[in-house]
Parts: sequence; C-alpha cells; structure tokens
Amino acid sequence: MREWTREERYRVLKSADEIVDLHEQICHSAYRQAYHIQPVTGLSSDPNGFVKHKGVWHLFYQWCPWGAVHGLKYWYHVSSPDLVHWKNEGLGLAADTEYDNRGAHSGSAFSKGDDLYLFYTGNHRDEDWTRTAYTCVAQLHEDGTITKLEKPLFGPHPDYTEHQRDPKVFYVEEKQRYFIFIGAQDKDLRGKIVVYSSEELLSGWKFEGELKVPGYESFGGMWECPSIEHFSGKDLLIFSPQYMKYPERGESTNHNGYIVGHMDFDTLTFVPETEFTLLDYGFDFYAAQCASGVNADDHAIMVAWIGLPDNHYPSEEEDWEGTQTLCRKITIDENNRLIQQPVEALKGLRKDTEVPAGTLPYACEMDVEVAEGDFDLNLFTKEDGSGGLTMHYDSAAQRFTVDKSKMDKRFNEKVFEQVYLPALTPLKTMQVFIDHSSIEIFVNGGETTFTAHIYPTEREHFYTISDNGCAKVYELEASVKDDFVV
Ligand code: FRU
Repeated sequence: MREWTREERYRVLKSADEIVDLHEQICHSAYRQAYHIQPVTGLSSDPNGFVKHKGVWHLFYQWCPWGAVHGLKYWYHVSSPDLVHWKNEGLGLAADTEYDNRGAHSGSAFSKGDDLYLFYTGNHRDEDWTRTAYTCVAQLHEDGTITKLEKPLFGPHPDYTEHQRDPKVFYVEEKQRYFIFIGAQDKDLRGKIVVYSSEELLSGWKFEGELKVPGYESFGGMWECPSIEHFSGKDLLIFSPQYMKYPERGESTNHNGYIVGHMDFDTLTFVPETEFTLLDYGFDFYAAQCASGVNADDHAIMVAWIGLPDNHYPSEEEDWEGTQTLCRKITIDENNRLIQQPVEALKGLRKDTEVPAGTLPYACEMDVEVAEGDFDLNLFTKEDGSGGLTMHYDSAAQRFTVDKSKMDKRFNEKVFEQVYLPALTPLKTMQVFIDHSSIEIFVNGGETTFTAHIYPTEREHFYTISDNGCAKVYELEASVKDDFVV
C-alpha cells in the first residue's frame, strides 16, 4: 500500500491536465466497470446531492482525484435520464473558498422550482490543522456551472466536537419549514444528529436541538451521513454509525443502517418502530443517501458507496477505488421491513447473447431460483469449480454464509472475510449483479441485500450451483460512460 504525505493528499487540482494520464492508465484496468458509477480518477466515496430536478437525475460523489486515498475532497457530478445510463459531467464542487479550504464534504441537494441547490459541508482547517465544519450552499445552474453562496448558512455548534457534517435538507409541509439534519458527535463522544430549521431555504437557519432517538442515546461515536425520508405513511431514518463493533461484522467499526418509525417535529423525536437494522449485509456498503425531488408516496430511491472508510482494495495499486451501488427502489412492507429492488430500467441492459453454461461474463446478471433445502452457490470459481466467493444456505439453521477467503485476491482479511445474512424463511430467489469488481445481490426480492467489491483474476470466471437451484445468466450492456470529463 502506497504511503501518502499530507501534501500529496491535499494537493489542489489546478487543471484537468494534471490527471488526464492517470485516467488513461486506469481506464485500461480489468476491474473498471460497465454499468456502475466509478471515479474518473482516484477515489470516490459517499454519494452526494442525489436529486431529480426537472426530469433529470443528478448525483455527485466524494472525489479525491490523485489516487485511492482520502485527501482533499471534491464533488464530482454525473447525470442520468433513467438512473441506469449515466454520463460524466465533470467537477462539481471544488475546495476553493475560505470555508472549504480542505474539502467539500458530503451533503444533499434540494430542487426548488427551476433552481437546484447543493448543501454541503465546508471542511475548513487552520494551519495547525484544527477543523471547523461549515454548512454551505451552492447552486447548480442550467448551463452546468456552479456558484457558491458567499457565506455559509451556519458554522459548528459549540456543544459538539469537530465532527459535525453531512447536511440533509428537506421541507416539512405541516411545519411550513425547511429542516437540516447534521451528523454529529457530542462531547461525550457519542453519535448524534442535530437539527436546524428555517422558513427560507437560503437564510434564517436556527439551531433547533438534538434529535432524540429513544433507545439510541449511546450508539456509536459519530453518525455520518444522516438521511430521512417519508413514504408509505412512515418515516425512514438512515445513518452510518462509526467507532463501534456490530454483531457478526468482524472488526469493522463502520456500519450503515436504518430505523423505521415516526418523526415528531414538535418534540424533535424520532420514535422507532423497528430496531436499527443494517441496510446491507455485504462487505462494502456505506453512506447511503435517498434522492430528493422524487415525491413518491410509496417509495424512495437510494444509492450508497461500495466501500468502507477504513478498508483497502486491490485497485489501490492502480490509483483508483470506490463505486456507487446500483440505484435501488426502496419500499416498506407490512412488517416494517425495508425492501430494496434494483431500478426497473436495469432490465434494459440484458443482452440476448448465449452465455456458456457455468461461466460468468464480466458484466452480467444472474437470476437464481432455489427449491427447498440447503443450497450452495459459488461464484468466481476456477474452471474446476474450486475457490471463489462461496455462499452456503443452511436451511435448518436458516443461516446464509458468504465467504470470500477462497478467492485469489484477498483483502481486508483482518476486518472480515465472512458475513452472515439475517434469517431467511426460506431462501427462494437471488438476483445477482456482477460488474468486473463489484457484486450486488438482492435476496428474496430485496428482503436482504449483499454488496461487495471482489477482484476475480483471469481464471476466476466460473460458477457452481447445487442441484436444487437453477440460474439464468444474462450478459449486460455498458451504461456508464468512462470518459475523461473534468
Ligand atoms: C463518510 C464521510 C462523511 C464526510 C465525507 C468526507 O464517508 O466521512 O462524513 O462528509 O466522508 O469525504
């Protein structure tokens, strides 16, 4: 793993010419993907500013141009007509003001009439590297240019530590007010969400207090990337608690989950109707965000980062890492469970080519049906069926285990190489999306999902399936342009 100095990580990008060769080099990698959003160069992490505005989907990702390292962060902009075909729009937010001199950190977007606003965290650091987080706003204009408001909406609140970031902005009809949720850490080093509100979108913001979430007063050390949605008569709170271990998640201390409940804006209380539940049971999933401007009564659209803050990936050697998940339609079922499904338009990527039995194309979808009993599916095996990403369902224990330790390229071994899906009663279907270096699995119609990076070598493009399962494999077309736009 390459060591980076602070100067290297926080170098300011002055011109696109500085990274054009890097792009040229990485776009020949065997691990570049065909239908996933990936960094134009360097590192991409959290999804930001996800919004539907005037019929177009806009998405940004946290971007460090120089390599696979968390350093100076920009927002990089992509857009799509259908959540599947994405094109690179270029640099979105730069770190170029006094308030964001060390990065434009995560945040959300708000579409208001003809105007589109981006709310982000200005990561300011003094010369002695003391951090101050500002909640800033920029506007994305019709011609693609972006201008920043001269002053932040507000600075950090004195009752919390330097960890205050990731504004999620939304409007609450019943209160006739705008709200912002900020992920924070209190002085006892506990993860929190703090709340601001205003009658106007761009001014008049005042601190309302801390969000109360009964039962979660002491749950992790920082809640990153809060997101809240209202649909199907319920409220859905999403956040990424850090600095805590979680059952059956190995040594990982970064998690991303949700609580379904009811948001009471009078008392600033989120009343849980479910427990905190992981959004995804794979190795690499974090910082999920729902799109604003969707305005649907019964669903939301969610995307997340395929990656975890402290993990390392084999593509780091090639100076890039990090991917956005497929866009997922999320609904809440009658048992208050979140159901995640890949957006419908993905079906349009299926090619009608014949896929040789037992082989896995680099970009494909595999639809699996499982009859009763124990079940095995081993993906990315060698031709003789050995090795690979092994999945075993033990029907008596209702336990589904995924193990990546038998793949040629091992990574994050000390964090975890084995994960367990929650009880499945029983296992019926799996919809598997494979794209060169990522895999997303929707189990039982999206009751449970598994997302991870995998780096199969040339000899690992086969699979085996037990007799009680049957698989149909479709090769998929590319839908995300990998061109150099900065
Ligand atoms: C989550 C996070 C955010 C922050 C951003 C910086 O991964 O740490 O809290 O805004 O990444 O890139």
